[in-house]
Amino acid sequence: MNKKRFVAALFTAVVFAVPAAAAEPVKIGVLLPFSGVYGGLGSDQERALGLGFDTFGRSVGGRDIALVKADTEAKPAVGLQKARELILRDRVDLLVGIVSSAVAGAVRDYVHNAGVPLFITNAGNDLLTGARCSPWIIRTSFSNSQIVRGMGPWLHGRGYRRAFLMAFDYSAGRQMMDAFRDSFTAAGGAIAGEEYPPLGQVQDFAPYLVKLKSAAPDVTFVFFAGPPAIKFAREYAAFGLSSDIPLAAAGWLTSALHIDRQGGEVDGVYSILNYVPSIANAENAAFQRAHQARFGRAGSEYGVAAYDTARLIVDALAAVGADLSDKRAFLRAVHGVSFNGPRGPFRIDPATNNIIQNIYISQVRKSARGGVTAEVLDVLPDMRDAAGGCRM
Ligand code: PHB
Repeated sequence: MNKKRFVAALFTAVVFAVPAAAAEPVKIGVLLPFSGVYGGLGSDQERALGLGFDTFGRSVGGRDIALVKADTEAKPAVGLQKARELILRDRVDLLVGIVSSAVAGAVRDYVHNAGVPLFITNAGNDLLTGARCSPWIIRTSFSNSQIVRGMGPWLHGRGYRRAFLMAFDYSAGRQMMDAFRDSFTAAGGAIAGEEYPPLGQVQDFAPYLVKLKSAAPDVTFVFFAGPPAIKFAREYAAFGLSSDIPLAAAGWLTSALHIDRQGGEVDGVYSILNYVPSIANAENAAFQRAHQARFGRAGSEYGVAAYDTARLIVDALAAVGADLSDKRAFLRAVHGVSFNGPRGPFRIDPATNNIIQNIYISQVRKSARGGVTAEVLDVLPDMRDAAGGCRM
């Protein structure tokens, strides 16, 4: 072959080596904290998201799913910067993730104005599916008030009358305590006191526990997550409070992510959450089996939300033939998806874009195998947020 023909043949080979139909991948930006106080939560979600795409589809309508990660550090300014980079530089089609309500609040306007669909896998910031809702922001996890508001009447029904509240001092902690206070006082209860330690690595909860003790409530209700949750529960027990003042919590206090590292110190804790690993349905059994096989430990509520998000995205993409040129049609497809997931029935409320789901009230008990587990006492089915605040 002479040189000219060789070059021509090479050109043909290169051009036609790419099949004409090879479609662009669907690019998904994964915005999670991989460092900082919520780093463990973000990593848990990232793993379960991968497991979800492996389970429900790594390729839809001829397009592969490509994930691009960015570390928010759970800091609002960093989260906003990373959201910008994913949209402008990486040109992602969709965004998935966000653990902190503060980060969710910081990225809201940018994502809304960019018109890039964002699937929130954790951050419960009430405003994002309430007064600051957006057609582009869908939440597959929970809203802060959705998780907590069942606990006021429930504890009152068990005879508790004076509650002491404690939570991280940022939007999530404040919103959860607002929802608890509203629901507990509406049921006839009173608030004995409230304390808000800063988000992050609190060195010592003792100053707060001293105030709690002197307020002499008959029950405590708290929100803490990540490593500080383990620390808080340990100090509450070490202070000798557990036997006199029962501890109730937004269930991340005894998350499946770390309950194995907790023991007798959380025995008896009441918790309210959208998932516990013991839920008896086929989808949860499949999720837990796959999670255990791949990661060597039980899947958590953080993981479940990410895993379900993969299923929602795959199903909605399939419904539009993976064609994202009409993003509003894609969002309509999102509203059309419903399934039974590990948490129970899963669907997105078109009035708020927040998930409608069961909420589980449980109590931590010593298990027969040693260690402790959360045993479900009550289920609040199909909890959905009032649509009042949201106009899309
Ligand atoms: C939140 O910031 O919304 C948040 C963070 C961690 C949790 C729950 C909620 O475990």
